[in-house]
Amino acid sequence: DFDAFDTSEELGFLLEEPLTSLPDYYRVWLDLAHNLTHLIASRKLRDLVHKMPVLSPDLLSNHRELRLAHLALGFISMGYVWQEGQHAPAQILPKALALPYWLVSRRLGLPPILTYADSVLANWKLRDPTGEMEIGYLIHFQNVTFQNRNLDLIFSFPGGESCRGFFIVSLLVEMAASSGITGALEVMHAMKVLDLMGIQLGLVKVTQSLKKMKETFKLMHNHVDPTAFHGTLRIFVSGWQDNPMLPNGLLYEGVSNEPILLSGGSAAQSSAIQCFDVLLCIQHEDETGAFLTRMRDYMPPAHRQLIETLSVCPSLRDVVMSQSSSDLCQAYNSCVSALVDLRNYHLNTVAKYVLVPGNHARATGCPLRGVGTALNTTGTGGSSLMVFLKSVRNTTQKALILER
Ligand code: HEM
Ligand code: ALA
Repeated sequence: DFDAFDTSEELGFLLEEPLTSLPDYYRVWLDLAHNLTHLIASRKLRDLVHKMPVLSPDLLSNHRELRLAHLALGFISMGYVWQEGQHAPAQILPKALALPYWLVSRRLGLPPILTYADSVLANWKLRDPTGEMEIGYLIHFQNVTFQNRNLDLIFSFPGGESCRGFFIVSLLVEMAASSGITGALEVMHAMKVLDLMGIQLGLVKVTQSLKKMKETFKLMHNHVDPTAFHGTLRIFVSGWQDNPMLPNGLLYEGVSNEPILLSGGSAAQSSAIQCFDVLLCIQHEDETGAFLTRMRDYMPPAHRQLIETLSVCPSLRDVVMSQSSSDLCQAYNSCVSALVDLRNYHLNTVAKYVLVPGNHARATGCPLRGVGTALNTTGTGGSSLMVFLKSVRNTTQKALILER
């Protein structure tokens, strides 16, 4: 099971032991990606990209090399497009970036833009690879300071510690989801033989995992500053679909003659939460559902496959309602409640990190530059932000089964 869906009991959907180096031929990609924050600050990145040779991706020979190449090309592309700020995006991605990025993306089944699967799932390393410290060690001891952590990013955007904090806390939340994914698989198997106790125990595992995700999420406040997140980091995660700054999308030179529309990075592309929705038979409808379904195109195919496998299973909610086990019903409801809790916590976080700094920028910024306008009502993934997130939360809440 775990192998088929490219997931593991300890790390969930995280890429296991991501590579940090590629064959020497690709040195220019890694050099640019490693120096990205500096090259953006000195506004040299675009010039250097213009001098880049068009490399063939044929020397990339396995999944982890392809993931590192996709990650590096993603960071360089976002930096290239947004180097001059949100009001002066590049309209064309030069061939030396666009063509290999396109080819690498096709081999991975991912779109040629920085995804959550890149910036979070594949963008980590251990500072001391030989060190005793397990990657999960610090989650159990949250009072250990962040600086002592053995976890680091491979590539960063501007935003300093807030950038690091944003991606690493997201990674830790995703890790906390791993036991929930195991629980979801256990429920799925128990359903096949109508093992009610098995279903109940699997649900308890999912609930515990959701609670741990919320606790881990709280680390965001210690490590991410709202002004740095909103004013500096956020633009680099933004894409070119439903984005008024690039209404027609981005032209991939050497790939297509028409610009292409692609959403920016967002945890809406995390497979874990969508697995839980599908397991619990929470069906998001209309625009909200369409957006979430579209986000599956931004997930690695094996992860998307797990969501799809879970979605064709018999309905857990129907089984819970047809059995007169109040324990089972409570286990289901606790799980739904934990998901509502997590989504409420997320909503508050979005208010703090997007709405408040957005309003502040509007109140104090120069009106001619229209500071922050588009990104205040739209997520980096391109959703209608609060309207979307509240709809998702409300639909989750409605799945609760009222006991007779
Ligand atoms: C969606 C913001 C952290 C999980 C979204 C959206 C926004 C947003 C604006 C709407 C979709 C879009 O257009 O991008 C934030 C901010 C965060 C944060 C500001 C931190 C400062 C996280 C973390 C998780 C997460 C750590 C991990 C669980 C989700 C999910 C969705 C989403 C699952 C899709 C909606 C849903 O299923 O409830 N986020 N997010 N977010 N985010 Fe976050
Ligand atoms: N999706 C997050 C946002 O819109 C990163 O800010």
